[in-house]
Amino acid sequence: MITKCMQCSEEAYEIATDLFSKGEIAAFPTETVYGLGASAYNAAAAGKIFDAKGRPHDNPLIVHVAEKSMIPELVDITETGKALIDAFMPGPITVIMPRKSVIPDEVTAGLDTVGIRMPINAFAHRMLEVCKLPIAAPSANRSGRPSPTTALHVLEDMDGRIPLILDGGPCEVGLESTVVDAANGEPMILRPGAVTKEMIEKVCGVCRVTDSVLRPLRQGEKALSPGMRYRHYAPKGEMHLYEGDANNVAEGICIAYDSALAASLSPCILCFSEHSEMYSSRRFVSLGRLSNPEEAASRLFTVLRDMDRLEIDCIFCEMLPTDGMGLAVMNRLGRAASFQIVKV
Ligand code: TXA
Ligand code: MG
Repeated sequence: MITKCMQCSEEAYEIATDLFSKGEIAAFPTETVYGLGASAYNAAAAGKIFDAKGRPHDNPLIVHVAEKSMIPELVDITETGKALIDAFMPGPITVIMPRKSVIPDEVTAGLDTVGIRMPINAFAHRMLEVCKLPIAAPSANRSGRPSPTTALHVLEDMDGRIPLILDGGPCEVGLESTVVDAANGEPMILRPGAVTKEMIEKVCGVCRVTDSVLRPLRQGEKALSPGMRYRHYAPKGEMHLYEGDANNVAEGICIAYDSALAASLSPCILCFSEHSEMYSSRRFVSLGRLSNPEEAASRLFTVLRDMDRLEIDCIFCEMLPTDGMGLAVMNRLGRAASFQIVKV
């Protein structure tokens, strides 16, 4: 199969619409990461998404809509769901609610709930508006790779596997949406994102966060969000996070870096710009300012892909506080490092 990559335009949306209506799939930009979409009504088309990604069939897809008026056809809107939709849609949030039977089992992986997302990105919104269909779409990476935040990332993973990539430039947020379970009672964050716990608390009064966000799943533990079971975002090199006072962290990282070099390995340091001076004689990549975790969010997946491209063997990485957007960044860093944390 030849993979076409087209700038977002009215013509490109028509081509995507034609593909979706024929039960085909196409990748498109959103404000979070690129998605790989198919008609949410078409079980066979959903199957093509799983095949192209190499995604386990028990990991459900979320459904994207152009307008709030499309939501009642797809799910039973709960009280918490309504509050989240009113406050945060369109935007980087996925709200899980009880599904209606129009959504096939292949999309929900047999669950009785489905996640609804209404992107705020103008290209995504226009594509969904033109195609007039709810679009089931996971992130457009091969399973296990970091989510794509540019059309080129999608091409790296999907060349020859899908017919079309719509190019809308780099994604503004850079991390996947906040997944919130609103199916029964109080909201619970299953995957942190740019809509933060603090923002949801302001709207709903309370917001729990599943504790496996900052630790690996225990053996035999049931994941609340099936996607959390799988090794994600992981670069090929060994990655370690360093926790402690900034000076101790820098010292620990430099020692580890130097011994990796001495062992003829290819190391790299991921740090925050406030600390980069402490690593100046070594190879480092800045994730942005510690005081602005949105910068790390928007760079992280590109940086992780670069680690593989540069054939880095070991990655030594600083940590950041878990308030606000910091929680989403720490969740992805933790999983990229399989939660291997060195306390100094
Ligand atoms: O920002 C995003 O959410 C992107 C863009 C394309 O919209 N999509 C995305 O989809 O990240 P995906 O499939 O890569 O991640 C969705 C996560 C998965 O971990 C999945 O297991 C979980 O949401 N999920 C989906 N439906 C669920 C459900 N009904 N109950 C619990 N978790 C669910
Ligand atoms: Mg994904």
